[in-house]
Amino acid sequence: MKITIHELRQMKQRGEKIVALTAYDFFTARIMDEVGIHLILVGDSVGMAVLGYENTLRVTMEEMLHHTRAVARAKPQALVVADMPFLSYATVEQALQNAGRLIQAGAEAVKLEGGVTVAPQVRALVAAGIPVLGHIGLLPQSILETGGYKVQGRTEASVRALQDDALALVEAGVFGLVLEGIVSSVAGAITRAVPVPTIGIGAGRDCDGQILVSNDMLGLFTWFTPKHAKRYANLAEEMRRAFAAYKKEVSDGTFPGYEHAFR
Ligand code: KIV
Repeated sequence: MKITIHELRQMKQRGEKIVALTAYDFFTARIMDEVGIHLILVGDSVGMAVLGYENTLRVTMEEMLHHTRAVARAKPQALVVADMPFLSYATVEQALQNAGRLIQAGAEAVKLEGGVTVAPQVRALVAAGIPVLGHIGLLPQSILETGGYKVQGRTEASVRALQDDALALVEAGVFGLVLEGIVSSVAGAITRAVPVPTIGIGAGRDCDGQILVSNDMLGLFTWFTPKHAKRYANLAEEMRRAFAAYKKEVSDGTFPGYEHAFR
């Protein structure tokens, strides 16, 4: 069954957890679809996961379009959401133009970071028929301003700001909210207070769903694993093993064997 924003809202009402992951290419999206992942995010984490950038600030619209097209070609049952990269939604006009390009590349919704300050952009996008997933809490695109990746909701002022952001986004028409790096009890309270599903990453178990960066959970990015990310596989080790075995076999003449040659 094709997952729509309406189905995600019903899942919240039924108390069913939404399972989301990031993907940046065709084959990963295909495999995720085989196991019934509900939402695939073409995240701007592609910058670190695939492109070798230090943070998400260097990711461009062209790169997001390229990876969105690849994921969309898998035609997954999952809802495909594309991240709007840094500075692509600084004004309402830019937001409309760039979100439109992501939709034309195959995304079925867009995600942007921020709360009260991006509510006008969200309202305009929703009015134009583009579903928007909000993203509040720890905002990777704001690290220059905030001074780093900091968990939110530890002070009264921070809790109030999060609540204001969540309500402003709901009022502007988001179909869901990503809650990133938020104290669990605060994320739980926001989840209970809003009518739209919340999808947590580093926000505890009380969110309506969970998302992880696929490279983190697959153990592909072994140089650093954030505290919130559980490793479900060790693919980097598996790749190292395969590359080393191949190198050895080519070097010692074991590969290709007769079964791999044409006669
Ligand atoms: O880009 C990304 O992967 C994200 C997730 C952390 C939610 O925004």
